[in-house]
Amino acid sequence: MKPIQLTPPDIDMPTPEFVLLKSWKHNAQSWIEAIRTGAIESRLKVTDQAILLAVIGRQPENVLDLGCGEGWLLRALAERGITAIGVDGDPTLVKAARAAGSSPVHLASYEALVEAKVNVGCDYDLICANFALLHQDIIPLLAAMNALLVPGGTLVIQTLHPWTAAAGDYQDGWREETFAGFEGLWQPMPWYFRTLSSWLNALDMGGFRLVGLQEPQHPQSPVPQSLLLVAEQRG
Ligand SMILES: C[S@@+](CC[C@H](N)C(=O)[O-])C[C@H]1O[C@@H](n2cnc3c(N)ncnc32)[C@H](O)[C@@H]1O
Repeated sequence: MKPIQLTPPDIDMPTPEFVLLKSWKHNAQSWIEAIRTGAIESRLKVTDQAILLAVIGRQPENVLDLGCGEGWLLRALAERGITAIGVDGDPTLVKAARAAGSSPVHLASYEALVEAKVNVGCDYDLICANFALLHQDIIPLLAAMNALLVPGGTLVIQTLHPWTAAAGDYQDGWREETFAGFEGLWQPMPWYFRTLSSWLNALDMGGFRLVGLQEPQHPQSPVPQSLLLVAEQRG
């Protein structure tokens, strides 16, 4: 008689989403240092300015920064007289954001936001997510954010440019960021690569209408540094 092959139960296998958020617990301090010392050249030269201009250009009075990290964008918006509220799932980053600025910063995972377990306010003119949508099923989160906007409110997403990040494999799927080239001790982070059409489909399914698409680029670089999507609540 052939022996029965026992497969380990699924509950022993952490989901990539779980590993993703857990990696931030490990990487938070190194991330704070990287951001605050200006160690990421593409941010300094291109992408920080790009998202700031995209947000300010919509003239919002109040903004929710989803996945705000250590809070640099909250501080930049507050300096310009915009009320900016942050939310992030990592306690160390939230603590750092609270300590460095005057903006309220909520500690909440995206899962908690989807299930409306945490009150992060509502009636926002604009919600932004700067390199912060890294998990697979973003549609429920986009729909939850949709409900926090004023009618016709704006969503601004900056993310890795799919064509430059594809590395020859242009299809949706989990990838790994090893943070090679960064100073410090880092744990690899799983992140979900999505194609351009996958991004646009997610916006549509989340109840948004694309109103702008930018490919921020440095004049001396042959490739775009990011993809920037501006969408409006479809109502
Ligand atoms: C690359 S960092 C970007 C941080 C910030 N937006 C910035 O521009 O520096 C990604 C952020 O997403 C947050 N994040 C990732 N997955 C999350 C989840 N499931 N729930 C809440 N926050 C999450 C991390 O804690 C981290 O702060």
